[in-house]
Amino acid sequence: MADSRETYMVNAFVTGWPIKHSRSPLIHRHWLKRHDIHGSYKAEAVAPEEFPAFIHSLKQDEAGYRGGNVTIPHKELAYQLSDKPDEIAQELGAANTLWMNEGLLHATNTDGYGFTANLDYMRPGWDKAERAVVFGAGGASRAVIQAIRDRGFSEIHVINRTLARAQELRHRFGSQVYAHSPEALSEVMTEAGLFVNTTSVGMDGSDAPDIDFSMLAPDALVTDIVYIPLMTPLLRQARKQGFRTADGLGMLLHQAVPGFEKWFGFRPEPDQEIRELVIRDMEQ
Ligand code: ATR
Repeated sequence: MADSRETYMVNAFVTGWPIKHSRSPLIHRHWLKRHDIHGSYKAEAVAPEEFPAFIHSLKQDEAGYRGGNVTIPHKELAYQLSDKPDEIAQELGAANTLWMNEGLLHATNTDGYGFTANLDYMRPGWDKAERAVVFGAGGASRAVIQAIRDRGFSEIHVINRTLARAQELRHRFGSQVYAHSPEALSEVMTEAGLFVNTTSVGMDGSDAPDIDFSMLAPDALVTDIVYIPLMTPLLRQARKQGFRTADGLGMLLHQAVPGFEKWFGFRPEPDQEIRELVIRDMEQ
């Protein structure tokens, strides 16, 4: 006789192009196993030109998926092709989490949630400051800006090599957001309580810009959303100058939680155990 649980098997995916470096399968499969949930989480390499057909098959329930995660370069199209994007996805114009409900494809973006939930967990009280500095103006920056604006930061200074992209974020997110070129960095850092690097500089140990954090408020928190390596040159510099830091791995773990809960009906804990598992995988 077939396992009666077979009926309730729930399948989810992560799709991107490329996808093989994604750590999401490791995270979700660990939680499935840890909590004895009868489900699967599969990596789907989908080329950009094939993405609309992938979404179509998801909506037609051809692949048997309850939902999944979407990563680069599909986040914008995932939002556009969804039937019911929530407010967060609508304002960002991008989605990273999809789920089917009553024949409709729902979409949200959990990147900003991942950022704030991780800091709530690692650095409680991080959101008491008024002024934040966000370095970079790409997709990840947008999610962070939206999330910290919604947590009450009243002055969010976006520094970007290409000024026009920072200005676009001011138009998108409102008057709490200010756009600057890199020359303004030390001026806007004065008395800021939060610094976020959202650019890939310093990733894989590449050279980071020489940033002097000494103008920040004494209890400021310096964060990087890059997590390879965990201690980026930028975080090392901030530590040397006596500031608290938070690395990017926690954001990755926390952004996975709402999707897992939607598909599998259980809210997992992004605890030390899963963190260490991902670190061990990165070291291989
Ligand atoms: P993501 O979705 O990961 O945020 P993205 O949309 O390509 O990626 O954005 C990358 C961000 O990193 C941008 O802010 C980019 O600056 P530009 O808008 O000027 O391109 C920034 N960035 C990338 N490499 C950089 C570098 N070497 N120095 C400074 N900024 C850099």
